[in-house]
Amino acid sequence: IKVGLLFGGRSGEHQVSITSARAIASALEKGENKQKYQVTPFYINQNGVWLNPEQSAQVLASGIPDDSSTTQGSKWQFPVQCQEMEVWFPILHGPNGEDGTVQGLLTLMDVPFVGSGVLGSALGMDKIAMKNAFDHAQLPQVDYIAVTRDEVFSGPCVFPKLCDRIDTALGYPCFVKPANLGSSVGIAKAKTRQELEEALDSAAQYDHRIIVEAGVKAREVECAVLGNSQAKASVVGEITYNADFYDYETKYTDGKAQLIIPAQLPENIVHKIQEMSLKAFHALNCQGLSRVDFFYVEETGEVLINEINTLPGFTALSMYPQLWEASGVKFADLVDKLINFAMN
Ligand code: ADP
Ligand code: DAL
Ligand code: MG
Repeated sequence: IKVGLLFGGRSGEHQVSITSARAIASALEKGENKQKYQVTPFYINQNGVWLNPEQSAQVLASGIPDDSSTTQGSKWQFPVQCQEMEVWFPILHGPNGEDGTVQGLLTLMDVPFVGSGVLGSALGMDKIAMKNAFDHAQLPQVDYIAVTRDEVFSGPCVFPKLCDRIDTALGYPCFVKPANLGSSVGIAKAKTRQELEEALDSAAQYDHRIIVEAGVKAREVECAVLGNSQAKASVVGEITYNADFYDYETKYTDGKAQLIIPAQLPENIVHKIQEMSLKAFHALNCQGLSRVDFFYVEETGEVLINEINTLPGFTALSMYPQLWEASGVKFADLVDKLINFAMN
């Protein structure tokens, strides 16, 4: 089976995608997978150019981005080898990859692909749409307010009123997030009115849709989902770190965060998290895989859903594959299963 491995992409999570793709490629080139699959890499560089398989293989081997090609009118030329693929494995994180855009293109190509389709991907990417869908599914979550860039740049008459509204409804600390990024890029924790104003201004530079959430003091726990209509939930993992919150640096600097798998939690809380993960997965019409992230407030026993990631980090050390490993599914089998779920 010819598998097109699509990686890189025009988002702040470009490097994470390269690392995820390296792990997946190596799992497809081992053992029984080697007999079954022939991998062709397609790298999208940070300018949006699709490199051919030979150039892409070099990026995959070195792990180093290649931005030597620029668009200059060639952006929409796809390497001819694209036409030969029987199934796609897009491992792109963030905008232009995890948000339904690439999924739309692959749907038009009429070739199966791993992961959610246009709707699930788009709902999972936009934090406002995602939280509205979670509300509709009656999944408990923190209070939030959706804000537009226009409101932030509305000037001295309207902007203070917006901040007043956030003050009153959410208090401090609150989290200000561009609605469509990942890996904590552009997220700020505001502890005062002044920090809130600055954070809104900064988030508006990234996105025209912004979400502000009430800050919660809680443990961060995550659960992996695998499958389609009969999807299963994995054991639950916890992330601990020594930082103000789980920001980009903490996520991607070796030794700054620890994954505890399985998390030490009461059994009823584990079940609740697994149930909520599957409910969230189906509420957003997700397929194949997702990692669902939660806040567990130990004092009250509350479990609040934070977000869903439809193409979660997939490096050998990432939470998603590690949760499945601890649930009895080895990395190579996981990749095989994902391709099977895409094709059946
Ligand atoms: P991303 O999609 O970039 O991962 P998240 O919404 O998961 O963004 O936020 C990143 C991190 O910020 C979380 O893992 C958590 O540490 C912190 N955080 C986000 N929202 C809240 C909140 N409402 N209360 C407390 N911490 C939060
Ligand atoms: N967005 C990153 C890759 C994750 O959620 O794992
Ligand atoms: Mg997150």
